[in-house]
Amino acid sequence: MASLLVRNGTIATALDVFQADVKAEDGVITKIAFSIDEPADRVVNAQGKIVVPGGIDGHTHFEMPSKGTVTADDFRTGTISAAAGGITSIIDFVTPSAGESLKAALEKRRESASSKVLVDYGFHMVYRDSATQAMQEIKEIMAAGVPSFKIFTTYRADGLMLEDGELLEVMREVSSNGGLLAVHAENNGIIERNIELLRREGKLSPEFHPQSRPQIAEGEAVRRMITFAGYVGANLYVVHLSSKMGRESIRDAQKAGLPVFAETCPHYLVFNDLVYKRSDASHYLMSPPIKSEEDRLALWEGLVEGDVKTVGSDHADFNSQQKAAGGDDFTKIPNGVPGTEVIIPVLFTEGVAKKRFSINRFVQVTSTNAAKAYNIFPKKGTIAVGSDADMVIIDPAFKARLTADFLHSNIDYSIYENYLTDGYPMMTISRGEVVVEQNQLVAEQGRGRFLPRKPYPGNRSPLFN
Ligand code: URP
Ligand code: ZN
Ligand code: ZN
Repeated sequence: MASLLVRNGTIATALDVFQADVKAEDGVITKIAFSIDEPADRVVNAQGKIVVPGGIDGHTHFEMPSKGTVTADDFRTGTISAAAGGITSIIDFVTPSAGESLKAALEKRRESASSKVLVDYGFHMVYRDSATQAMQEIKEIMAAGVPSFKIFTTYRADGLMLEDGELLEVMREVSSNGGLLAVHAENNGIIERNIELLRREGKLSPEFHPQSRPQIAEGEAVRRMITFAGYVGANLYVVHLSSKMGRESIRDAQKAGLPVFAETCPHYLVFNDLVYKRSDASHYLMSPPIKSEEDRLALWEGLVEGDVKTVGSDHADFNSQQKAAGGDDFTKIPNGVPGTEVIIPVLFTEGVAKKRFSINRFVQVTSTNAAKAYNIFPKKGTIAVGSDADMVIIDPAFKARLTADFLHSNIDYSIYENYLTDGYPMMTISRGEVVVEQNQLVAEQGRGRFLPRKPYPGNRSPLFN
């Protein structure tokens, strides 16, 4: 029986902060006490360090095809990057091709991931096509451990968008079976029209990308999705929220008692739209785009006040050659940025070190809320006897510059090149095994396990209990 003892650390959970030793046996936490004087296969001294639950990144895109290429990170390099940043569980996406059965697509995706992953992993299922058997497959996919479905209000040209009637139909079916609806909410009509107008004026270089997807595009779609979710009683997860308008709608929906939550991403919390004036603007091209300083501050307010519940990375990275292949045309440049490795360092630096919020709120937004939202709590998302021994030991005194060399993504640049952290993970432990130590990988690929998830009991997310 493999055992690990983490001694003398300051343990922080969503609710508590205390000094304790933590013992793990066979991957599970078996004892938490002020002093554990027992032998273990590995003893780690965490004196002066903060021990938090492993991060949960509910939004990655490893091995994702886009615009004739595939994201630079596969499930191996992507999960190395995640683990190096203190993430011990990721939830990626299954995107069936047009007409493909959801079940077959899920099996293929599990097959691609299983021999490569360094941390535990699950999936959200993309629901793109109501002309197929997809509706009849929803219950089966849930029974296969995937109770969350992603729908799109845009990307018509890529065949991903659903019309309003279809959105309502899939929301009804998923929610009546206790599932979660994840939505990419941007108004397609506004975006398509803006692109057409920009094209006529010859304004397709990356700096014009944000003009094609303004705040109203997200704001309107978020409101519409909340209206639909309220009507059918759906648990709604608005992914990659980027705007003040969207955040205000989420806050108001929660005040009205709706089980609606938003995730934002590190890039919306660190940057504003001035990045699109840079010569390497294509590296910051993602959808929805980074918005104004006012929007950035509103997202922080959402995290501080508690309506923006999670931070996922939307990790979808392309190297500079892949970005350059799109030329000077934002409609052809693959969309997406890296991010899974920076969630914990950025939230610790900006949130805890800058005293925007407590260490407890940090744990909530990087781990516990996601575990509840994706229905894997308390197996994941906390430090408690019986929970998986997924822990990150943060050195609050370590300052790291997030250069391409320091980070582990399979790309040749860093959008955080000049960012200096205040604190950094010195060790990532997944199910009692040290996976990353002092920024070095020390575990074998393929050790990550599939995380089968269940529908919500009583059809309501425990995030709102
Ligand atoms: O630009 C982005 N976000 N690419 C990834 C796909 C998505 O829309 O989440
Ligand atoms: Zn999206
Ligand atoms: Zn995404």
